[in-house]
Amino acid sequence: MTIDNLKTPTIALGTWAWGDSGETGNGYFGSQLTQAGLEGVAEKAHAAGFILWDTAFVYGMGRSETVLGEVLKRYARSDYQLSTKFTPQAAGTSDDPVADMLEQSLTRLGTDYIDLYWIHNPADVARWTPHLIPLLESGKVKHVGVSNHNLSEIEFADQILGEAGFRVEAVQNHYSLLYRSSQDAGILHYCRSRGIPFFAYMVLEQGALTGRYSLENPLPRGSNRAETYNGMLPQLKALTDKLASIGQKQGAAAADVATAWAIAKGTTPIIGVTKPNYIDGLVRATSMTLASHEIAELEALADAANVNTRGWWEQEL
Ligand SMILES: NC(=O)c1ccc[n+]([C@@H]2O[C@H](COP(=O)([O-])OP(=O)(O)OC[C@H]3O[C@@H](n4cnc5c(N)ncnc54)[C@H](OP(=O)(O)O)[C@@H]3O)[C@@H](O)[C@H]2O)c1
Repeated sequence: MTIDNLKTPTIALGTWAWGDSGETGNGYFGSQLTQAGLEGVAEKAHAAGFILWDTAFVYGMGRSETVLGEVLKRYARSDYQLSTKFTPQAAGTSDDPVADMLEQSLTRLGTDYIDLYWIHNPADVARWTPHLIPLLESGKVKHVGVSNHNLSEIEFADQILGEAGFRVEAVQNHYSLLYRSSQDAGILHYCRSRGIPFFAYMVLEQGALTGRYSLENPLPRGSNRAETYNGMLPQLKALTDKLASIGQKQGAAAADVATAWAIAKGTTPIIGVTKPNYIDGLVRATSMTLASHEIAELEALADAANVNTRGWWEQEL
């Protein structure tokens, strides 16, 4: 068992899109992000008390971790927490590819420990999970979690860690109004009943649920997210309009309501933050209350949209 319990924030900050930094619209998100702009994001997040940053080596193949390390340099290490991942498909060929990937992440992030380290997907639970144990024992990794695992894979990973006195301390899956498979598969219930924090990723469906994007103003052309979502934007309009109208009553925007929905469902949303003013939205989301009839209306509209937003890297749970 790790010494201190994992302190779960209300909202975590996602940096997959930061993998596009330094590029001009050619990345996964088609975003144009500069280090100066991201410093502005970090400054507002720091001031508002959001401290947990989620990244992965594979986000821009090191770019996200590198720029995150750069922008966090100015803060004391104890003022923020880092969450990054081992991705089996990117493993090297040494004796311990997990330790190696961690070392490289530590270097890019400019630190000597990771608060929360994940196995990114269940490519081979029996093979990769045991590699977390020496990292926990050395203190280079404070807590561990699993991502994109189904219920039996979570239990298997927990059993492997349990044999060494550790456990799965967090679960991270795709969970949004449009994609509630972790709920249907009993993973949310499993986590709640064992006090394991469930981190929900892609709560905003990479921007498609914010109401900012439409046929007239599509997601950046040529990006992967445009390919996934632009074709379904007309079907999402009734839902994003509802998100906006619920938000309006509380001085909030559609994105804030989608985030508040994930909090109301007992999860910790990881929100991809690319602009400083998005942090204001997170602050609004944390102070917002959704009535149960509003939650039901949103979920009914989400079902009526009849879209499947399962990521290409995700399995059916
Ligand atoms: N474990 C895994 O396999 C996995 C997979 C996916 C994601 N993740 C993690 O989860 C995080 C979140 O997912 P994501 O970044 O892919 O997607 P997301 O959080 O669903 O959406 C992020 C996008 O939404 C827009 N946005 C964010 N806040 C907004 C606001 N307040 N108002 C309007 N628009 C807003 C931004 O788009 P614009 O930049 O276009 O404005 C941003 O790029 C990732 O960054 C990553 O850390 C993990």
